[in-house]
Amino acid sequence: MSETPVSPIKKGQSLELDIESLAFGGKGVAKVDGLAIFVERVVPGQRVLARIVKKKKSFAEAYPLEVLKRAPNEIEAKCEAFGVCGGCRLQNLEYEDQLKEKTRQVSDLIQRVGGFSDFEVPTALSSPSAFHYRNKMEFTFTPNPWRNHPDDEDEPLGLGQHIPGRFDKIVHLNTCYLQKPVMNDIMNFVFAFAEEHGWEAYNNRTHEGWARNLVLRYGEHTDQIMVNLVTKTYEKEHMKVFKKAIMSAFPQITTLINSITTRLSDVAIGEREVFLHGPGVIRDRLGESEFEISASSFFQTNTRQAEVLYDEALKGADLKGGEIVYDLYCGTGTIALFMAQKAKKVYGFELIRSAVKNARKNAKEQGVENVEFIEGDLKDVLSQTTAKIEAADVIVVDPPRAGLHQNVVDDVLKVGPKRLVYVSCNPSTLARDLKLFCATDYKLLSVQPVDMFPHTSHIETVAQLIKK
Ligand SMILES: C[S@@+](CC[C@H](N)C(=O)[O-])C[C@H]1O[C@@H](n2cnc3c(N)ncnc32)[C@H](O)[C@@H]1O
Repeated sequence: MSETPVSPIKKGQSLELDIESLAFGGKGVAKVDGLAIFVERVVPGQRVLARIVKKKKSFAEAYPLEVLKRAPNEIEAKCEAFGVCGGCRLQNLEYEDQLKEKTRQVSDLIQRVGGFSDFEVPTALSSPSAFHYRNKMEFTFTPNPWRNHPDDEDEPLGLGQHIPGRFDKIVHLNTCYLQKPVMNDIMNFVFAFAEEHGWEAYNNRTHEGWARNLVLRYGEHTDQIMVNLVTKTYEKEHMKVFKKAIMSAFPQITTLINSITTRLSDVAIGEREVFLHGPGVIRDRLGESEFEISASSFFQTNTRQAEVLYDEALKGADLKGGEIVYDLYCGTGTIALFMAQKAKKVYGFELIRSAVKNARKNAKEQGVENVEFIEGDLKDVLSQTTAKIEAADVIVVDPPRAGLHQNVVDDVLKVGPKRLVYVSCNPSTLARDLKLFCATDYKLLSVQPVDMFPHTSHIETVAQLIKK
């Protein structure tokens, strides 16, 4: 009997690695004696000196210490916090190359995990803008911003993004290239005001301090702006001064909110909201549908590319007007409302009560009457409901990263719609689930990656299946 050779690689060891590809999730892959080593913060084509931080039988993980050779297609990242901030892992690759990498990852998983050998996956659809595409950014105040360099002086206040894997470490940002330039101006104004007025940043270890988060939202089609300052307490007189200053500097702000929370966890949602200016909400559109967005609403963060994603889903559904559609994992009903214009009736299913409430409110506000939202856990609620409602001609699923529960796969197979559209934020679980559907009743027609989040390692995919 032959034994698996034991790799000589050890935890703590430093070694030179050639990065061959990117794995899903954004880590680089190098191979030594057949052992896959996953390396953070690198791109294919680089040679790096790296330290092994984890060693298992079938793989290892390493942390890069130094780039010894740049990748041929490597470019200078725009952002000065690149490599430290958790936001943009791929900013040192041309956007075209990012798309190629993400497409290769999806294609590889569809073939290897899904078992669809030789299945052609077209290049990921590019986002209309590679920068400034996010309509929402959440920044955190910190009493001890991350020092990029040992010679940097300690600063008493910072406002920025978390460092990956470190709940208590924030890198201060002067510019975030994912948001609109005007939002950077607002962020810098708030920071300068905070410094000038001696705001104490909340410390999430000791839970002392006052200023917690700054959440900025932008209506892509309406240019409406929401500024939401999250603090530990409501300081009425001080907020008057803040409001006067920010509104005279940025009269285009349509809603200014002070959210107050004493929660210990770093979640930028208030237990109480004080509307300092405007109605407390902004509006934006996805296709023809208009949405009211509050400080706590979920809304797709890349508005224009969400329209591309939903158009792909709509294409996959191939609606002629008379169909019954189920939208599983419908969230606040955006896909259901998008499809309702072209279908006889859409039933949306969703676990979270507040999302269902929001979906019903959105439908009512938009005057859409051919949608119905059903609350419940899909592992039970689909089988409990199907006998009471019309059978689906088309089912759209948009599950969280874990993919579909086996009960949901079984229940969808029992309903047996003519068409199935799978919108996925995780190509690994997508590939696994497509294999289950195609083992029996369905045939895979197309798989189209859609890049919703340029410079990050995320990729959405829309797969279209038809009943055999
Ligand atoms: C990826 S989001 C999809 C949102 C929506 N389709 C959209 O485009 O805005 C996944 C949704 O599934 C919901 N969800 C998660 N687990 C669920 C379950 N077991 N049953 C029903 N819904 C669930 C989440 O609350 C979330 O709204």
